[in-house]
Amino acid sequence: MASRLQFGVLGLVAVSSVYGLLASCTDDTPELIKVAKPDTGTVDDTGVVVTPKFTPAGCNYTTTPPKIEGFPDFEKHEDAVGPTPDLRYVRRGIGGNTDKASTGYADPSTSFVVGWQSDAATKASRMRFGEAADKLDKTQDGFSYLVQQDRLKSGPAEGVRFHEVHLCGLTPGRTYYYQVGGGPSGKEVWSPVYSLTTAPVKGTTDKVLFGIAGDSRDADGRSTQPTWGAIAKRLKNAGVGMTITTGDSVLFGYNQDLWDIWSKATGDAGTSVFFAMSLGNHESEFIRNYGHLLMPTSGTEHSERYGSFDWGPVHFIMIDDFFGVVSPSADDTGTYKTELLAWLDKDLGKANENRAAVPWIVTFHHHPMYSSTTQKERAAERTKVKEAFQALFDKHHVNLDVAGHDHFYERNNPIKGDKADPTGTTYLIDAAAGAPAYSTTTDNPFSAKIQKYQDKDPAAYEGIYTIVTADTASFKLTTYTMQSAASGSSPADDKVLESVDFAK
Ligand SMILES: [Fe+2]
Ligand SMILES: [Fe+2]
Repeated sequence: MASRLQFGVLGLVAVSSVYGLLASCTDDTPELIKVAKPDTGTVDDTGVVVTPKFTPAGCNYTTTPPKIEGFPDFEKHEDAVGPTPDLRYVRRGIGGNTDKASTGYADPSTSFVVGWQSDAATKASRMRFGEAADKLDKTQDGFSYLVQQDRLKSGPAEGVRFHEVHLCGLTPGRTYYYQVGGGPSGKEVWSPVYSLTTAPVKGTTDKVLFGIAGDSRDADGRSTQPTWGAIAKRLKNAGVGMTITTGDSVLFGYNQDLWDIWSKATGDAGTSVFFAMSLGNHESEFIRNYGHLLMPTSGTEHSERYGSFDWGPVHFIMIDDFFGVVSPSADDTGTYKTELLAWLDKDLGKANENRAAVPWIVTFHHHPMYSSTTQKERAAERTKVKEAFQALFDKHHVNLDVAGHDHFYERNNPIKGDKADPTGTTYLIDAAAGAPAYSTTTDNPFSAKIQKYQDKDPAAYEGIYTIVTADTASFKLTTYTMQSAASGSSPADDKVLESVDFAK
């Protein structure tokens, strides 16, 4: 087994020219591209670094990016479009700021974010919206920033412009119609009209649906990610408003071409389903991740690496568990893990006190704590994640913890401390949305259900995903095996692998 650095070198060569080299070494982390972290933003006339920030009109928070090399300043909406304007990959996100000093806690029941990409010269970042498709009678302006081509020359030569518009003060559980674009009068360019529904009112007793899927990356960066596309479409058609994903969405997070494949596969599902994405070891630390995540900001240099929000009766917490945790060396300053754990303890504590209104707590991140993978070297990763998080999960009674990384589906019996305990946390691995299948052992004593996918058997499943139905009194997880990515379009076309009711 080669070292990580050697894998990184192969990855670099492979992405720039020879994809074939990747086939046998795709699962290690592309650490070669790790860079020193200068301050984010541009330098003003006096030499002071200006951190990009934006306060959306009508919102009570400021959004900022993480400190990542080469992060350009934000540019406010301008009535400018390029010679051949190209608006692409419109996607739903959420805003908010989980910083303790901010009052702008992320609230998807009254706000949403729309992000999209364009050619470099199109600086129009405007949304038209309303409560009917033919009556987009309101507008909101946002910001954009230009991400240059990296040294591997992925994406268009002129770079990619990422746009965001944040909207606040909306009505919970309401369907909004919107389109994005703008430009000089007479030369305006607009996307098609899309729609989405805000999360239900806080404290609702209504049922909500959310999806779970992970590891959509393919083996070598050459496919069109058909498994992921088919799962995303099914989740949209099932009426899911949000889906948590467990990382490794793409093979290399620094590569725009791979993100474009992911965005194309996600398709229109991304305009109505909020994909709440955590970062995997294949993505950590790259500027493009920030453009694709559309998650709440944290108000610190580690913005969008962690965050939380309520969606109906569920409190969700997203964690980047690679940066500074599984890979301490990735964090040059060594501040991330400390900051994260202090925040997590506080956030979980608050959520635990709020059980009467929001009774369920779900955490999601990339590296599992309990797994039946045959890859022995991953035991060390599990130990690091367990040491960082499990005591906090036990203390605050997390109901469900979802991870990816080991490419199969596995549900563990609830665990507390080092024992199976019905009052403990259920640890789930949902990592079967396109990444190469892994083999499994029988030596995980906590394993309650395990399902491999993409077996050599032509009848094997092409993907696995989960839909949770929850209200204040119940929480039911239903996992589907997708027989064919090429046919079918809803969960009704798939088989139920298992259905599990959670106890409060
Ligand atoms: Fe993975
Ligand atoms: Fe992974």
